Amino acid sequence: MDIFEKIKDNRGPLGQFAKEGHGYFFFPKLEGEISNKMIFNGKEKLVWSVNNYLGLANHPEVRKVDAEAAAEYGLGFPMGSRMLTGNTDAHEELERQLSDFEQKESTILLNFGYQGMVSAIDALIDRNDVIVYDSESHACIVDGVRMHMGKRFVFPHNNIENLEKQLERAKSITDKTNGGIMVVTEGVFGMAGDQGKLKEIVALKEKFNFRLFVDDAHGFGTMGKTGYGTGEEQGVQDGIDIYFGTFAKAMGSIGAFISSEENVIEYLRYNNRSQIYAKSLPMPLVKGALKRLELLRGRPELKENLWKITNALQKGLKDEGFNLGKTTSPVTPVFLSGEVDEAKKLIIDLRENYDIFCSIVIYPVVPKGTIMVRVIPTAIHTLEDVNRTITVFKEIKRKLDKGAYSSEKIASRA
Ligand SMILES: Cc1ncc(COP(=O)(O)O)c(C=O)c1O
Repeated sequence: MDIFEKIKDNRGPLGQFAKEGHGYFFFPKLEGEISNKMIFNGKEKLVWSVNNYLGLANHPEVRKVDAEAAAEYGLGFPMGSRMLTGNTDAHEELERQLSDFEQKESTILLNFGYQGMVSAIDALIDRNDVIVYDSESHACIVDGVRMHMGKRFVFPHNNIENLEKQLERAKSITDKTNGGIMVVTEGVFGMAGDQGKLKEIVALKEKFNFRLFVDDAHGFGTMGKTGYGTGEEQGVQDGIDIYFGTFAKAMGSIGAFISSEENVIEYLRYNNRSQIYAKSLPMPLVKGALKRLELLRGRPELKENLWKITNALQKGLKDEGFNLGKTTSPVTPVFLSGEVDEAKKLIIDLRENYDIFCSIVIYPVVPKGTIMVRVIPTAIHTLEDVNRTITVFKEIKRKLDKGAYSSEKIASRA
């Protein structure tokens, strides 16, 4: 079979929807300034779909530093990988500041969180080791696990009793192989907004010998009193052996990092293939990240605003009877009952007739018959945005429950 022929018929789990959804549900173009209101298909929409949690993506002070750094260094500098020719004082300074913020000994920068995470799992684990991971882990964890040549066990999402069973299975293997155990989970789960049960997992260290690796992409900058993440929120930062954060969400940029003991980070510097064999983060991103981190740490009002909007939105929706699942973070899933086709029409109605841009999550990510509308509040939304959205959500739920989206009444504009 010719590979090109094969993919003509099988477009993959998402690609199968490309024909009807490209440019609308998938690959939509949000234009204009990154803000609470953006342009979609030529018209202004209230946007609840971008993870610019603190509004730092284009904060005026940040934009100034981004632009100055681009003018001074260009986008190419430094050339090569960190290991060979791409290291600078600024990269090292950013790592020092992140270590200080995360209360860890040392930090390594990553060009992209996704690749860095895959590569770090690969680097730290060998065939004698066992990985135990949460079933709702992000693709970067799943793909890291896929690289592993030894045993891996998955525990049902946040099910600590089951995790304990998996740890027992893992231990029976590592007792024979003389390997170690790594538990991998998330701080804040990005789809449903609930937190990983880090406190309970850390407590299991009394019984089992393992290292805990936490992907806190959505918790970094948003959770905990000072914002250093879900470990701070749950009072267990010390129990997280390896902490991962990304610049792509609360910092509104590109890049990521892993913080841990010096020994671990030095090992990663010389073994994390996504960094050794790829170009160093460009200087404007590093300078921009330094500025963003300064604001993230020094302007608590940004996080306060995020939570003011989050609390108003989540309380308002709950008061109106909406099911928000188990979220305890800004990520706000709104669970509705309906079929895939109704979900599409609901989103079209929301975008075209109410000018609200949200993303939906449908089967198989959520169970059949469930529609998840994923709402991401940020520090730059207003209470007026919140009130309007709650009013509109009431309206669309009424329509959904009446069966309006199962009929042909809502014209598809996709
Ligand atoms: C939980 C989680 N981990 C990792 C990543 C990847 O981060 P990056 O965008 O820096 O590659 C994301 C971003 O989508 C994420 O949501």
